[in-house]
Amino acid sequence: MNRIEAAMAVTIIVGAQWGDEGKGKIVDLLSKDADVVARCQGGANAGHTIVLEDKKYILHLIPSGILHSQAICVIGNGVVIDPVVLFEEIELLKSKGIEIGGRLLISHRAHVIMPYHKLLDQAQEDSSIETKIGTTGRGIGPAYVDKVNRTGIRVVDLLDEDILRNKIRLNLQQKNEILKKIYNKAQLDLEAITRQYLSFDKKMDEYIADVSTFMNEAIDSGKRILIEGAQGTLLDIDFGTYPYVTSSNPTSGGACIGLGIGPTRINRVIGIQKAYTTRVGEGPFPTEFSGDMAVQMRELGDEFGATTGRPRRCGWFDAVIARYSVRINGLDSIALTKLDVLDTFKEIKIGIAYRYGTKRIENFPAELKILQHSDPEYISVPGWNMPTKHIKTFDALPENAKRYIETIESIIGVPICIISVGPDREQTIKRDVFDL
Ligand code: GDP
Ligand code: IMO
Ligand code: MG
Repeated sequence: MNRIEAAMAVTIIVGAQWGDEGKGKIVDLLSKDADVVARCQGGANAGHTIVLEDKKYILHLIPSGILHSQAICVIGNGVVIDPVVLFEEIELLKSKGIEIGGRLLISHRAHVIMPYHKLLDQAQEDSSIETKIGTTGRGIGPAYVDKVNRTGIRVVDLLDEDILRNKIRLNLQQKNEILKKIYNKAQLDLEAITRQYLSFDKKMDEYIADVSTFMNEAIDSGKRILIEGAQGTLLDIDFGTYPYVTSSNPTSGGACIGLGIGPTRINRVIGIQKAYTTRVGEGPFPTEFSGDMAVQMRELGDEFGATTGRPRRCGWFDAVIARYSVRINGLDSIALTKLDVLDTFKEIKIGIAYRYGTKRIENFPAELKILQHSDPEYISVPGWNMPTKHIKTFDALPENAKRYIETIESIIGVPICIISVGPDREQTIKRDVFDL
């Protein structure tokens, strides 16, 4: 066991940009020695890709530890669960020979995505009276609205037919009015939804658990636990580029709330960042490319959304964001992914500050206006112009690639513990950076 793995006791993995940083790949890699891998927030808006021996798995709800047979996978109370997606995913994994029985636990406190959440999400996006966020259309925002509004339906509610029917009835009284009067959509039927969700209960029953108790007992008995964040820091409802964010807390603080464990139980927080930056959906993106560079990077990095297939917007690495992520998440270290995508660039830039009028800004601002209208200040490092996909150690990397990595480390102030040079598990360089 090396020092990264030994340090894993309870490790949170967070996206440190706008999502799609390669969390799936890194969680899968570190799951080799994990006893428990847990999701704590978000829902099927996530698309986490694992590539193994030329086979690609895209997971939306089930934690990325599922390919390692010793790992128990947990979906915490902070996740909003779409049962349709969940059972599709379970069936898909089973069809590929992956054993799920006895290895998947679902919190009885988690909220459930209902058909009206998805309809409202899509209707809001299409409407001319609301800000278009560019959501994934998975019903995430409306489900979290109901949770906070205390009208949500939880996994425990599926267990009791009377409670379930009553809650759906109350919700439909309001949702049907909104769907009809504001969005001009068809009405939903109480009995059809109740029947559908009662059938989900039967299928979900074997997985339902008290996740907080399970997690705390696992920690007490010294199990090695990985907590898999979804989305990313800049999509956080509190700390992201609001309102162009998701409706949960993908930052490390969300992990405790989303699993029912206390902050004193966390040992490490690793942030995942691409060696450049991407974003899907609307919202400001200071280092974004325009024109040919945007197309070139998208093609080189195969930057298309894992959940929706939408093209991702691309830009240079933004150290203002990286430093912000270090602070908000308390990152101990960074896993830097997709370094290989930069292999052919002559010059590589790093955004180190924003210029807004006469002001130079180093701290990530809250004002959307500043983010939309500032020009990044860049430093450049020379490219390395040779393939890195096959490289296994830091020392074997081209000198300019090492220089790029060390420059990022010195600007953001935390070490880079893992460098990813391809989608496959094997295409990874681990550095022994932790002091234990
Ligand atoms: P996640 O949401 O953070 O898990 O990331 P996604 O799976 O949505 O997107 C990351 C994409 O990059 C996936 O297609 C991965 O297979 C791919 N990927 C991950 N690491 C690397 C890498 O180091 N190099 C390359 N070329 N692709 C990578
Ligand atoms: P993973 O876990 C990238 C983005 C959407 C949109 C905004 C709100 O794969 O990194 P939502 O459907 O959550 O209400 O959409 O958040 N978004 C993601 N972008 N990766 C994700 O997940 C995302 N999940 C949501 O594109 O801009
Ligand atoms: Mg993704």
